[in-house]
Amino acid sequence: MRSVPLVLGVLASGRGSNLQAILDAIEAGRCPARVAVVVSDRKDAPALDRARQAGAKAVHLDPRAHPDRVAFDEAVADVLDRHAVELVCLAGYMRVLSVEFVRRFPGRILNVHPALLPAFPGLHAQRRALEHGVKVAGATVHFVDAGVDTGPIVLQSAVPILDDDTEDTLAARILVEEHRLYPEAIRLYAEGRLLVAGRRVSAKPRGDGPQGAEAR
Ligand code: GRF
Repeated sequence: MRSVPLVLGVLASGRGSNLQAILDAIEAGRCPARVAVVVSDRKDAPALDRARQAGAKAVHLDPRAHPDRVAFDEAVADVLDRHAVELVCLAGYMRVLSVEFVRRFPGRILNVHPALLPAFPGLHAQRRALEHGVKVAGATVHFVDAGVDTGPIVLQSAVPILDDDTEDTLAARILVEEHRLYPEAIRLYAEGRLLVAGRRVSAKPRGDGPQGAEAR
């Protein structure tokens, strides 16, 4: 059973605008969750300041202080467990998670990606969309599996690419959609409304009885 509010742990490496969108949605009563802890692999990540300002625990873990990726991820997972985190939210986290980490939180990790997956997974998605000449870009919130940006898709939103777009203007328009989608996906998860059947994720209408394989 999930807690009400749902306990979140956020992993972030940088600016933290998606973290802020989650915090703002919680504050506004649009997302029945609580950010217990924010973990960053970067000491100077603005996301850590945003966490402190919101009264969440801010933890920096230095990857160089651990022998390898698995050991580092284990330290991150231990912090999340110590805070009784139920859902892990990746928000601009620049590290690829080890299989061991993903297995430790089965069906309990979300990520936001600035592209319409499965197009343009990985780094520089907006630049690559422009270079490729696609006419529609967008944002995706998805469950995290052992691959890079390959897990089941929860929500997507399309953003048209304009003739005069630069990487920055496109990224800014996509970011607006990320900030809208991420708290919405967390809300659906918190309310126990996400049904996962293989790769397909659907959202039960509010107030429906339990059915299907609900995401844990
Ligand atoms: C976002 O575009 C997110 O989709 C990508 O990295 C960026 C992080 O931005 N994974 P922020 O740190 O949330 O502001």
